[in-house]
Amino acid sequence: MPVMDKKVTVVGAGFVGATTAQRIIEKNLAHVVLHDVIEGMPQGKALDMMQSACLENFEASILGTNDPASYRDSDIVVVTSGVARKPGMSRDDLLRINAKIVGEVSDNIKKYAPNAIVIIVSNPLDVMTYLAGIKTGFSKNRVMGMAGVLDSARFRAFIAMELAVAHRDVEAMVLGGHGDDMVPLSRYSTVSGIGIEALLPREKIDAMIDRTRKGGAEIVNFLKTGSAYYAPSSSVVQMVKSILLDEKRILPCAAWCTGQYGVQNQFVGVPVRLGKNGVEQIIELKLTDPELKQLQASASHVAESVKLLGL
Ligand code: LAC
Repeated sequence: MPVMDKKVTVVGAGFVGATTAQRIIEKNLAHVVLHDVIEGMPQGKALDMMQSACLENFEASILGTNDPASYRDSDIVVVTSGVARKPGMSRDDLLRINAKIVGEVSDNIKKYAPNAIVIIVSNPLDVMTYLAGIKTGFSKNRVMGMAGVLDSARFRAFIAMELAVAHRDVEAMVLGGHGDDMVPLSRYSTVSGIGIEALLPREKIDAMIDRTRKGGAEIVNFLKTGSAYYAPSSSVVQMVKSILLDEKRILPCAAWCTGQYGVQNQFVGVPVRLGKNGVEQIIELKLTDPELKQLQASASHVAESVKLLGL
């Protein structure tokens, strides 16, 4: 594919940000600006990636910078800045420190890229998305968080591994906040259209649901000094691609709910149609009472954290 005439800014040149940038340019999806406050880091990583262009066969450019003015004319800004979890920490433990960082980044996006679509990746995900929504003042279809694609990808991987089937044949849906009370929906998870409830005993499914909820922590516990970045960056890129190519994929994302699923004026993970206008529609699935209760409990947990920020 020839390089598209699009621009994506990735804020935060840590593992998630840098890997996201790499995946975007290697697919020729857009020209990338990689921004970080640490001097030299985005420049070094960008130069290193540029020198792989002739080997990986891509024409997309990447610029590493410490200057937020470089966000100008971005079609999409992906925000990965902030500190990552250490073993024993919950995503909520990152609230205050990351709120300061994401708040500043949001001010810069508003100033330099007022027409961009914003994808938040920093944790705690749903709260940081709320913060970016308020701070930028952008229409809510242009602000969203990446979490459901990642959580579903984890659930899909566990299902594929358990059944020893092709990963690409597995679809799954995970709703709710990106926290320990997220809602993996086994009823809407399939292998080539076959519901997994017909393929696996309940206790196996419950074990996979539990592992999905703790999927991020499982990796933090292995890595010790950081959190996951391969699947998170792939998940961001699936969203970026659906927007830039106007693919209109149905993906679970943290989106602004205005009464859907009984959630009012809040960002939480729901299935959305993602296209050139960002979140173009929220899909309302029929949920059972227990599923709906779980989703609402997860949403109220997010609402409590938002309150802590005093926004
Ligand atoms: C995870 C972190 C990125 O789930 O929230 O791995």
